[in-house]
Amino acid sequence: MSEPAFQRSGLGDVIPVPADVRPDPAADFTIGPGTAIRTAPGSADAARIGELLAALLRPATGYALPVGEERGEIALLLDGDGDQDGDEGYRLDIAASGVTVRAAAPAGLFAAVQTLRQLLPAAIEAAGLQPGAWALPGGRIVDRPRFAYRGVMLDIARHFFTVDEIKSYLDSVVQFKINHLHLHLTDDQGWRLEIDGWPRLTAVSGGAGTGVDGAGPGYLTRADYTDLVTYAAERFVTIVPEIDMPGHVNAAQVAYPELTADGVAVAPRTDTEVGYSSFVAGKEETYAFIEDVVREVAALTPGPYLHIGGDEAQATTAEDYRTFIQRVLPLVAKYGKRVIGWHELAGVELPETAVAQYWRIEATDEGTARAAANGSKVIMSPADRTYLDMKYTEQSLLGLDWAGLIDVERAYGWDPADRLPGVGEEALLGVEAPLWSETLRSLADVQTMTYPRLPAVAEIGWSPRATHDWESFRDRLAAFAPRWRRQGIAFHPSPEIPWHPGAPE
Ligand code: ACM
Repeated sequence: MSEPAFQRSGLGDVIPVPADVRPDPAADFTIGPGTAIRTAPGSADAARIGELLAALLRPATGYALPVGEERGEIALLLDGDGDQDGDEGYRLDIAASGVTVRAAAPAGLFAAVQTLRQLLPAAIEAAGLQPGAWALPGGRIVDRPRFAYRGVMLDIARHFFTVDEIKSYLDSVVQFKINHLHLHLTDDQGWRLEIDGWPRLTAVSGGAGTGVDGAGPGYLTRADYTDLVTYAAERFVTIVPEIDMPGHVNAAQVAYPELTADGVAVAPRTDTEVGYSSFVAGKEETYAFIEDVVREVAALTPGPYLHIGGDEAQATTAEDYRTFIQRVLPLVAKYGKRVIGWHELAGVELPETAVAQYWRIEATDEGTARAAANGSKVIMSPADRTYLDMKYTEQSLLGLDWAGLIDVERAYGWDPADRLPGVGEEALLGVEAPLWSETLRSLADVQTMTYPRLPAVAEIGWSPRATHDWESFRDRLAAFAPRWRRQGIAFHPSPEIPWHPGAPE
């Protein structure tokens, strides 16, 4: 029997499971010392993705794996059919003579690279040379996503995570074809993005002691944020910045007392209560501030979205909430961005371009259904399925439990098109798994809550509904234990999963 780290993958042993898989057991291809990578002529993107693939394969194989346009048994080509493949789809042919990937756009080549990576033995993820037989299973995969938006959210307001930690997290999530990283940048405790003209936001509310229970300090400078946006774009991930308002704004009011009703400074808060702070809907200073913030965040963000929060505004009257949101919506449009808001926003009439993110646990939501009927898109993030900060079991040391316990089967066993009456397949932009960080202090904590549940949400968002199958998913997920160990990624060893063994060297 082969060592677990060299256990062969079948052609369909991929998460998210590909749309169409046709194995050909006679056509395995083995990567060898002479293998080269050939990329689409004249495409800098294809060349860059070829280098990313080579960089993934070189440490464990020890092979040179040169990348060029002239020759190579592994070909990354941009001659897909845009109508069939979309931007992220790809066709992957593995034959005894070599591997050919065809996509209509670079994002499809990147997605195919993530598939190829999973088809190799887990030892490919090792940082150093492995005694390998680097066989890829023969056959054909034709794949494209069910939904355009497959996201994960990281809360860097409650506890801050550094640029390097966020990059590392991003590297881990792209393996599962996640293509949006929503950054929750501001909350009652802290403000984590530098804004020109409002230096106290980060000097005070990004300073020492601003994390939950006095952790901290931390914030992203403009240069940090730009660096992250670029790093994400190189991996076909869109950053979605969130500035939460009109609630969850205590940190802004600590820094600038003119944003409170009476202009008197409020005390910093590092507890985890919610629903007590509010911007003042009837004060012009509020909108002058928000316009500056929206203009700057929009200018720093190449992606189409700006998330304005809108959740848990219990300290804002219904009338003020409506007034406030109706003032802010045109500001976001003025600076060229499309609004995303937590679904409470859908209580206000929204433009068709706005996106509502459903996050609660109830079985119905009138506002979200009405927004969908009016042509707005919806992102599904029901807390009882997708919230990565919920505990796995009562024994979990990390996380919260207000939306219940979420084991892997619960994270997998639902469908976004069935979740809310009036919000079917056509209304969905996609799915997102939010990770709130009240209890999470380190990257290892973040990883432990993310894995193994994020792959479940990723598969629901990418793979055709007809392929969803818990038994199959569980078996494919099991193969990630030796991969994550080699990648240095912490995960919760959920007892539901028949994990493959394989310790890192
Ligand atoms: C939320 O969990 N308050 C969106």
